[in-house]
Formats: sequence, structure tokens, C-alpha cells
Amino acid sequence: MNTNKVDGLIRKVEKKKALVGVIGMGYVGLPLVLRFCEEGFQILGFDVDSKKVAKLKRGKSYLKSIPSSRISQFVRSGRLNITDDFSHLSQPDCILICVPTPLTEKMEPDLQYIQKTTEAIRDHLRKGQLIVLESTSYPGTTEELILPQLESTGLKIGRDFFLAYSPEREDPGNKRFGTHQIPKVVSGVTLSCQKSAISLYRQIIQKVVPVSSPRVAELTKLLENIYRSVNIALVNELKMLADRMGIDIWEVIEAASTKPFGFSPFYPGPGMGGHCIPIDPFYLSWKAREYDFTTKFIQLAGEINVSIPYYVVSKILDALNERKKSIKGAKILILGVAYKKDVDDARESPALAIMDLLQKKGAIVLYHDPYIPSLPPFRKYLFKLKSSPLTERLLHRMDAAVVVTDHSQIDYGWVVKHAPLVIDTRNVTKDLKRWERKIVKA
Ligand SMILES: NC(=O)c1ccc[n+]([C@@H]2O[C@H](COP(=O)([O-])OP(=O)(O)OC[C@H]3O[C@@H](n4cnc5c(N)ncnc54)[C@H](O)[C@@H]3O)[C@@H](O)[C@H]2O)c1
Repeated sequence: MNTNKVDGLIRKVEKKKALVGVIGMGYVGLPLVLRFCEEGFQILGFDVDSKKVAKLKRGKSYLKSIPSSRISQFVRSGRLNITDDFSHLSQPDCILICVPTPLTEKMEPDLQYIQKTTEAIRDHLRKGQLIVLESTSYPGTTEELILPQLESTGLKIGRDFFLAYSPEREDPGNKRFGTHQIPKVVSGVTLSCQKSAISLYRQIIQKVVPVSSPRVAELTKLLENIYRSVNIALVNELKMLADRMGIDIWEVIEAASTKPFGFSPFYPGPGMGGHCIPIDPFYLSWKAREYDFTTKFIQLAGEINVSIPYYVVSKILDALNERKKSIKGAKILILGVAYKKDVDDARESPALAIMDLLQKKGAIVLYHDPYIPSLPPFRKYLFKLKSSPLTERLLHRMDAAVVVTDHSQIDYGWVVKHAPLVIDTRNVTKDLKRWERKIVKA
């Protein structure tokens, strides 16, 4: 191990004199930037989206979960600088990569963002820099994709520069666990890479969990998300069976949850959404093919979760039919389009699939979401819709309201009172027995 470079870097980090660069000012990068600022670090944020950069430079947040005041104080004090000029990449001592890792149309890893970022870092790499990938990806990304590019500069890993992987576990909207309270798994390509990355994260996170290699850390993140995906699929499948059997799955889960060991509750819903759980497992199934291995659980969970919006739509159809109404021309209000409660993110949200299916069947679809005033273009869908104000008049005009996202600020008792029919995918109507005739669980 070259003690000079790594010890120099660690000293600088521990004295909080290291300049930290963060690439990608999104749901992951922005909270990370603020955490470093709070601990007294000087930060240089990078993003390709110049509009986002301009807004952040004015101290304005573009995410509901982050108030502008948290950003503006650091911008004003000069601790936080943000740029879209990647020629500054030689300045930071530590660079954290938080760029998107979506799927292509063919459901394969879309690594263009990591690739472009790696090329930009490579073009400005200097001795003594620590590079950490935080984006979720398959085991091997750090060492097979990033390392060769950085070594092509002639600089030597573990001696001249350091490379690590530390997966992000950010949970937007989670009020119980802030960034600093969520333990951070940290690995490095060499021992000095790991040592320097650990020293950096110790400055901002209460508990750092070292692991032996980037591949272990990469698979750890995927295991966490696959675990959720598979368990959500399981309860979603059981929900459909329980419905056929005339059993309330929510009551079953509540009862099973009283077991003090060996059971963790997962809850059914309208399908799976968000930037992580529906996407990340496919990074592993794709990589598994290289090893002649089929990841059956991932495949099956994917199939079940993708089928749930169809199930929800079939329940809407049945409920309308019961009321002698057809879906064609029916006015349907979708309540909540965000992929989960109290967030302003609708990426991969099952609401989009449900709305699309309803429209294709001839329904007139409106939506209300206090967090999403209008729907931007999505990977698979384009709706030209704005959130309708939630009023008694609107609810009276509808043939059905469908609770897709259980945002806390909506009064569901009031909704059920005024809507002719409520399709509930989140069990928000659990205590509204009085209105049972109007409620269909889906
Ligand atoms: N959102 C979450 O809750 C969450 C949680 C854990 C892990 N992750 C993972 O973290 C990574 C980032 O996710 P996110 O939700 O923050 O994404 P995001 O889309 O919110 O943010 C990514 C940012 O990167 C920018 N960007 C794109 N290409 C760039 C480039 N070449 N150089 C610089 N900036 C670029 C985009 O403009 C955007 O601002 C993904 O791998 C994701 O799977 C996300």
C-alpha cells in the first residue's frame, strides 16, 4: 500500500479539508451533498442538467423532500458550489458518482450515464483522488467498467488514485431515518481504496459497514432490493387469491405480524414503482446470463408485480359492471400518482400503467396528486394531464375514485363520503365500515 498518498488523503478528509465532488444532483446526490455541507466540508456538485444547476445555484430546491432553506444557507456561505462544467473534475479530492442506472427498452442495464461520467472523470483524473460509485448496478461494474477506464490514464489504482463502491440506501420521504442514520456499506478495489472510502463516510454517517470487495457491496444492494421485490410479489399474489376466497389479506398480514420472530410484513398494493425496486433486480438477471444462470425468483416476482395494475383495472371494471356502468366513457379519478406515499416522484409508478390501461379501454381519466402538479414524459408513457383540484364537486362528477398512492394529507373518509365508488389498493378505507357498500378493495 502506498502510505503517502492514502494517508495524505485520509488526513485531509479527517480535518475536513478535502474538497468533495458529487456527480448527479438527484434524489441521492442532493441529500449526500447537504450531509457533507452540514459536517463542514466544501462541496462541488456536478450535473448535466443546466436548468437544475441554475436553480440549485440560486439556492432553490426542486425536490419536495428538501426545503430550499437547507440548500440556500450553504450556497450563500460559499460552502456549496454547483456546476455543469466537468473540466472542474480535477479539483475535488473525493468524487462520488450518483447518476441514474435505468433499464433500456429491452429491460437491460442502461449504463450510458455511468459510462459518460467515467469518461469525464478519466479525462481529468489526477493523483490522490478517491472515486466512489454510489449508483446501483450489477456485481462487477466498478472493477470491470470503471477501473479499466481510469487505469488507461497510466495512473495506478491503490497508489495514485483510489476507487470504491458504496451503495446508496436513501429512502426519500422517510422521516425516521435520515442519511446519517442509515448504515453505509463500503468497499474498495484495494485495501487503501477501502481505507480512504471508510474515512470519508465516517465523517457523515453514524455507522460504516466495511465489506471485502466492490462485488460484495454491489450484490448487497441488489439483494436488499430483490428481497423487497420478491416479498411484495408474494403478498400481491396472495392478495389475488385471498380476494377470490373472500378473505381480507390486510387482516391476515396484521395477524401474522404479531409473530415476534421469523415474519416481516410486506404489504400489497397497485403494483410496484419507483426508480429502484422494479428496475434493479434486472441488473442481476442480466449479469447472471454471463454465468449461464437464470434468476427465477427475480423473473417471477417481476411478472407478478407487472400484472397487478391489470388486476386493479379488472376490479374497477367489475365494480362498474356491478353498478350497471361500462368502462367506456366512465370518469375515473386516480388518487395519487407518485410511486409511494408523500413523495413527488412518479417514475415507474403503477399509477401510470393503470391510467394507460383505463384510457385504452375508453375511460376518461383524471388524477389528483398534491405532490405532482403535472405529469412529465415518462420512460413508457406520455400523458398530457395536470392534477385536478380535489373538491366535492369533482368527486360527485366521477364514476369512481381509485386510491393508488396513500398520501397522508388526503382525508379518505371525506373522499369516500363524496365519491360514488372508491377502489382502494392501499387499505386506506380500513376503518370506514360505514361506507362499505361504496368501497372495493383491489
Ligand atoms: N432515488 C432513490 O431513492 C435511490 C435510492 C438508492 C439508490 N438509488 C440509485 O442511485 C442512483 C441515482 O438515482 P437518483 O434517484 O438520485 O436519480 P436522479 O435521476 O434523481 O438523479 C440523477 C441526476 O444525475 C444527473 N445526471 C445524469 N447523467 C449525468 C452525467 N453524465 N453527469 C452528471 N450528472 C448526470 C441527472 O440530471 C440527475 O440530476 C441510481 O443508480 C439509483 O438506482 C436511488
